[in-house]
Amino acid sequence: MGSEQDVVEARFRAAEDPWPSREQDAAAAAELVGQMTFEEKLALLSAPMGYGPGAPEDAVGSAARAQGVPRLGVPAWDESDASLGVTNPMSVRGDGPATAFPSGLALGATFDRGLAEAQGRAIGVEARAVGMSVQLAGGMNLVREPRGGRNFEYLGEDALLTGVLAGASVRGIQEQGVISTVKHFALNPQETGRVMVSSDLAEPQLRASDLLAFQIALEHGGPRAVMSGYNRVNRLYASENPWLLNGVLKGDWGFRGFVMSDWGGTHSAAAAATAGLDRQSGYQLDTRHFFGEELEAAVEGGRVPMSRIDDMAVRILTALLSIGATGERRGAGAPSEEQLAEHAELAERVAASSIVLLRNEEAVLPLPADLPRLVVVGKHADRGVLSGGGSSTVTPPDAVQEEGFSIAQMSLPKVLHRPAPLDELRRALPDTEVVFLEGSPGQVASSLRRDDTVVVLAQHWATEGRDNPDLSLQDEQDALISAAARAAGRTVVVLETPGPVLMPWLEEVDAVLAAWYGGSGGAGALAAVLTGAASPSGRLPLTFPAGEEQLPRREMTDPESTTSNPGEPRTGGSPAIDYDVEGADVGYRWYEREGLEPLFWFGHGLSYTSFSYEDVEIAADDAGDPAVTLTVRNSGDRAGVEIPQVYLAPPEGTARLVGWARVALDPGQARRVRIVADDLRCYARYDVDDPGWTVEEGTHRVRLARSAAPGDVLAESALELGARRLRP
Ligand code: NOJ
Repeated sequence: MGSEQDVVEARFRAAEDPWPSREQDAAAAAELVGQMTFEEKLALLSAPMGYGPGAPEDAVGSAARAQGVPRLGVPAWDESDASLGVTNPMSVRGDGPATAFPSGLALGATFDRGLAEAQGRAIGVEARAVGMSVQLAGGMNLVREPRGGRNFEYLGEDALLTGVLAGASVRGIQEQGVISTVKHFALNPQETGRVMVSSDLAEPQLRASDLLAFQIALEHGGPRAVMSGYNRVNRLYASENPWLLNGVLKGDWGFRGFVMSDWGGTHSAAAAATAGLDRQSGYQLDTRHFFGEELEAAVEGGRVPMSRIDDMAVRILTALLSIGATGERRGAGAPSEEQLAEHAELAERVAASSIVLLRNEEAVLPLPADLPRLVVVGKHADRGVLSGGGSSTVTPPDAVQEEGFSIAQMSLPKVLHRPAPLDELRRALPDTEVVFLEGSPGQVASSLRRDDTVVVLAQHWATEGRDNPDLSLQDEQDALISAAARAAGRTVVVLETPGPVLMPWLEEVDAVLAAWYGGSGGAGALAAVLTGAASPSGRLPLTFPAGEEQLPRREMTDPESTTSNPGEPRTGGSPAIDYDVEGADVGYRWYEREGLEPLFWFGHGLSYTSFSYEDVEIAADDAGDPAVTLTVRNSGDRAGVEIPQVYLAPPEGTARLVGWARVALDPGQARRVRIVADDLRCYARYDVDDPGWTVEEGTHRVRLARSAAPGDVLAESALELGARRLRP
């Protein structure tokens, strides 16, 4: 742990190059490609789905099966979804084991790079064990639309937090010899019309928000693959957008890996190939096999130069070679019992670290060990914890599967991960009578007693392919919670939700925990936090609005007016979403700019203990980077985790997160912490005319805070910073 005098330093620029061998890898790949026929090169440039109609017979069974060039020692390879564990769509590989990690937003809520990397490593181990060479992980779109159906896969609304955590997770996966992908590049925040929609945002703001998150992830993690989004970016499909792929990604950022399309997200041969797309993925879902005969014809007709085909093949092989992913992986089987046990423990640790205590009146939590009776209410409390739907859903053999949603005739179940919260609570409270009510408002009102403590597990399902129409809890859960609060003495609400929900009952209840989608360790983590075996230590990775009228776009596009999913006939129009409304002021920055008071701000999270901040120093260090040094003391009587956050507001503009530290402290313990805002892009302006980042000379306001709420500022200082420039 070190002594109180040791300073723990948190920095945010990548400490080392995550891909130092890129030149050698590219040279080795070029040599291989030099020995290939045109047909062999072409075979590398598209990958069919590894299950369902048209899947190659020798596929292991996963999202994709790519052909190799066996003659040159490059075997065919398999690719699996996704960021929350290794999936097994429609049980194509039987019922093999897999660890379901908590949702992306849960990982975001940990603010913990070490955990993100450890989770990545575990996913890499499992992916490799079942024979995968590529993991389609790294879902990292910024949450701009709190109703977005896939928010649960992403890491939050802040570019620095998202980029740093995604990079850490990529590092973990790739350490295991499995390529990690970041996706969906870029500006893909909603599901409605996702295969047609144009996300419109001016370049300076795009560079300083969604693109910055990817840029940071690339610098921290060195992902060997990037998946383009289904959507259009400023009117051009992401998969054939030369500015985005050739210009920003491969040009400005020097990306040497390959760009794969999303499944059913390729729309042309020559246009896509010349814009920078290297691989057509899941082409059964496209209207044509563009990167097959059509690309061949484009080369023969002189519309795509052979040098570009070489480049595409070289990029794919560079990625595989650099990770050691060209070895034969077939028949490897499954992760060992020992690995699975380790991963189960890790999944529970991530889940426990992600739970955010939003409210705790009169310290109703943790539940006392001598509580005589506890009533647990909630439709699935006796079955499992809810998981988000879509390609990312992990289905361990014991998962409960209910009817969910379907995309292109493939059914995507609604999954509950075992064990059930009810069982875990009974185990954690052996001396308490734990009563379960499935719960209608009437049943709750008549069964609860005045001196009862009730825990209501509220749920909200979200799935890929469909946005939620609003932020209200589904079914009659708001009424259920209010009924419970009226009848019982103490009411605790646990939110198993994709992200923010409205809480019209907030003032009626005593405590609220955001428990996200907790995965295989979700129930154990929840029981530990409810009973105080673990202290809630998550912080919100996104702002919870007080109402939909606060959002940059109050109305959403009617899903009936457009087509949202690949492989489905196109009907309706192509919507365009104007993200210039908030620009780079995503999430908390929007609320500050507009003077709005949300329900809970980004960064918010309470603890069972209390912390004091001492000897705060705010100054620029020798390199000119703003740095905040402070002592955090656990002033309460329980162990806990504090996450001091540093926000910086440039002379003109909103405050943004520029650094944080995660500090675990025993009662009475203190640590000296130094948070260095060394990534100036977080507070610089992006110039299009003279491309690059500019820090304006002048007075910047530096805040040490517990959250992004203006009222949560613990210390603030004006800092004179000199002008600085950084290349794109
Ligand atoms: C579509 C999803 O958008 C993407 O995230 C996923 O990796 C592919 N399908 C493959 O399943």
